[in-house]
Amino acid sequence: MLSIALDGPVGAGKTTIARELAKRLGFLYVDTGALYRSIGKYVLDQGGNPSLPAEVVPSLQHISIQLRYNAGRQQRVYLNGQDVSDKIRTPEVSMAASQVGSIPEVREFLLSLQRNIALQNNVVMDGRDIGTTILPNASLKIFLTASAEERAARRHRELMEKGDPSTFEQVLEDLKQRDYNDSHRAVSPLVQAPDAVLVDTTSLSLEESIDALEKLAQNTFFLRDRR
Ligand code: DC
Repeated sequence: MLSIALDGPVGAGKTTIARELAKRLGFLYVDTGALYRSIGKYVLDQGGNPSLPAEVVPSLQHISIQLRYNAGRQQRVYLNGQDVSDKIRTPEVSMAASQVGSIPEVREFLLSLQRNIALQNNVVMDGRDIGTTILPNASLKIFLTASAEERAARRHRELMEKGDPSTFEQVLEDLKQRDYNDSHRAVSPLVQAPDAVLVDTTSLSLEESIDALEKLAQNTFFLRDRR
């Protein structure tokens, strides 16, 4: 199976770019953030504190997470049998996901689920530790980044479109906090794998970013243009 590991900080454009790249290549797009978000949401719903391992770890035995793909190969995430794909897209759940993600037991809990998908499908897998930990033998590793201000501006636009009242300053602050959490945790921190290609999208349009990654993939896999 072929795999593309796509890692990078919040708002680098991973989701949109990975989804479109997967479509062009005929690969399955796997958004691993949805897994951490689901655990974060479960803990919040139970009234727990997502940053306290003593509250999060025991709840793992009550959590079952599944990724399902519909006919259009769109990912839906199921938490204890319920589709939570849309409910996990709030700023509170984003922060909770980052907090539970720093707990080693949570990362261990989600490891085989992620690896199994890549064993059975050609994937573009997006996350923080895909190239370093989940798929260390990925066929192609990409580390996608952009300046914090540009990433916050993109995320702010997305939230505004959904009617979320967060200000740009709040979004920037949250993003810096999550970047810090994600890159300073002891286990599988967000870091560029030594063999990953760095792509900075600060001054690239979405289309240009996707084209750049597609070219990298073509060069790696010698695929014909399938568009
Ligand atoms: O990609 P995202 O914004 O949906 O991820 C939400 C949080 O989940 C992110 O801040 C850190 C955590 N996460 C992680 O620790 N490892 C991953 N592979 C994906 C996400």
